[in-house]
Amino acid sequence: MLNESNVNYYAKAFPAVFTVAKGEIVTDTTGKDYIDFFCGAGTMNYGHNNPALKAAVHSFLDNDHILHCLDMDSKMKELFLTAFQETILEPRGLDYKVQFPGPTGTNAVEAAVKLARLVTKRKKIIAFTQSFHGMTSMSMSLSGCREEQHPGNTLHDVTFFPFDQFGDGAFDTLRYLEAMIKTSGSGVTLPAAIILETIQAEGGVNIAGVAWLKALRAFTAENGILLIVDDIQVGCGRTGSFFSFERAGIIPDIVLLSKSISGFGLPLSVILMKPSLDHWKPGEHNGTFRANNLSLCTAHAALHYWKDDGLLNEIKEKEEMIGLTLTQLVTQCEAVKGVRGMGMIWGVEFRSGSEARAVASGLFRDGLLIEACGMDDQVLKILPPLTISKDNLRTGLAMMERRIREPEYAGATRLMNETAS
Ligand SMILES: Cc1ncc(COP(=O)(O)O)c(C=O)c1O
Repeated sequence: MLNESNVNYYAKAFPAVFTVAKGEIVTDTTGKDYIDFFCGAGTMNYGHNNPALKAAVHSFLDNDHILHCLDMDSKMKELFLTAFQETILEPRGLDYKVQFPGPTGTNAVEAAVKLARLVTKRKKIIAFTQSFHGMTSMSMSLSGCREEQHPGNTLHDVTFFPFDQFGDGAFDTLRYLEAMIKTSGSGVTLPAAIILETIQAEGGVNIAGVAWLKALRAFTAENGILLIVDDIQVGCGRTGSFFSFERAGIIPDIVLLSKSISGFGLPLSVILMKPSLDHWKPGEHNGTFRANNLSLCTAHAALHYWKDDGLLNEIKEKEEMIGLTLTQLVTQCEAVKGVRGMGMIWGVEFRSGSEARAVASGLFRDGLLIEACGMDDQVLKILPPLTISKDNLRTGLAMMERRIREPEYAGATRLMNETAS
């Protein structure tokens, strides 16, 4: 677009000018529809322009609710905090205080690290290989996935350790971490915190095992190290439960949410901290755009999805549909090295990044938005809205299957017609 910097990325991956978006369908200025398996990198879990959330926005504006008031108290903040407590925290037996940092994911990461250092009076932070936590200086230094950008950045006393199954998966990465922290002379001092994504989304859909997560929680608790779970991309239902760590039955000290917490594509971030960690003095962490009231309004409206098991049951059924289609691909397509995922985040790993990228751009031409991730872009990341209709999920999966089996396939318009008939 006119005068836009080279730094723009997604317009190059998805070369179209988008206008309208509804549910899982995004439309460009030529009138072409795309099924969205990208979902704003996990931001649109409830679909684009979700009707219930849109109605909440209309009512908010029609009633002249206060939009901006820094972190002064507002009716919307009260509504959100009460509903979050009653709908999300209490039913899961979780006792957290809530902080609203600046509105993006990286703001939450920066503030959480600052808090961990404040509480423990230690500096070192441990992050994992192939992690991604954002693009501001601290967050980038925590992102193994962005190692090529580390030389131009301050490293902020971060030490990297191998994630579960790192490399060939042949060694016990947690025993290594424990030994390095506990053995004097290792060069690794006791950290303030360990930060991780339970499923590394940008890093290639790498899934930490339940036993590994449990052992990491036990080790950090025994040694006074704070455990920070970055649920910015895989929280808010993505993995089949509201928080991604629920499957392991662990309780992190600090949890970070952003992206889909507002549910409507509006910027909002949340830090959940155990009450004993709330060492902040008033104003010690600040920012103009915290707790934006319009974002809180849609975040509050989105919580209705969590009042019963309806959405969770839907995710389970869709998880099965995705899993079944993809497992067939591994056994039947030479180009596919592996498939992994849960809930509604899945990765299809190709032999090379160029193969995955070619499939992604073929799919874009066919009418499917999907992103390649992983260190060499070798993994196609399937991330549809949780609310996608089963028909469109089936159609999108069929488009993927066709494009992977037949990279030279002329286009999926025919396929969509076939599916409809
Ligand atoms: C796990 C994780 N953490 C942090 C971030 C950074 O969020 P933001 O881009 O809103 O700063 C992202 C963004 O993709 C993410 O996936």
